Amino acid sequence: MHGFDPEIAKGQAAAAALDLVRPGMRLGLGTGSTAARFVALLGTRVAQGLQVVAVPTSEATRAQAAALAIPLANFNEIGELDLTIDGADEFDPKLRLIKGGGGALLREKIVAAASRRMIVIADSSKAVETLGKFPLPVEVNRFGLAATRRLIAKAAQACGIDGPIELRKAPNGEVFVSDGGNYIVDCAFSAIPVPEDLAARLNAIPGAIEHGLFLSLASAVISAGPQGIAILGNPDAGI
Ligand code: 5RP
Repeated sequence: MHGFDPEIAKGQAAAAALDLVRPGMRLGLGTGSTAARFVALLGTRVAQGLQVVAVPTSEATRAQAAALAIPLANFNEIGELDLTIDGADEFDPKLRLIKGGGGALLREKIVAAASRRMIVIADSSKAVETLGKFPLPVEVNRFGLAATRRLIAKAAQACGIDGPIELRKAPNGEVFVSDGGNYIVDCAFSAIPVPEDLAARLNAIPGAIEHGLFLSLASAVISAGPQGIAILGNPDAGI
């Protein structure tokens, strides 16, 4: 991996995704350091006259986009989005993702599901054969936290999975609170051999508002690594 700089790779993946943006598009804007690269590049294009409207997936991205004068849409009035560009914590060869490392998984999933295409941008270190090395974030209601945590552990055990489930803390030591006002638990399962099985079980837990398994949502992953840009899937699918 001599000379590989993930920070440069993030910018390269973001630049490749910018090529997919067309005038008039309704865009979903992801969250995290890679998505922020894309938003920065988009801001430059907008300053040069590109006309798009955007829906941010977090308050942080909203603030960044607003500072760059990227027009923000009313999500309730805009209808289906054309394209969402977002990062990921892990992606596998079947375009399945773990997201939520930045705590924005609920809005990210809502926006991705509301888009004709979701394209992931990442440095190549995010590629895995089996999801799960990155602890799976699950956004949970504050009420009944302990009960929900037990049900998550049970769901995992039913899939043959085990591991610590930790309540996420913010850098200041306080419990992390998502933009939606919820808590997040991070599930260190090590490996999730059948993500669809776990996702279905997590979906059935009342206190689990949403989980970070993004399945059948990404059309493509644009990743950048020592060998340059690699594209998994079809970025044009759904146009
Ligand atoms: C935020 C996310 C991010 O896309 C994910 O954490 C990747 O972030 P980064 O680009 O900073 O590595 O899911 O909730």
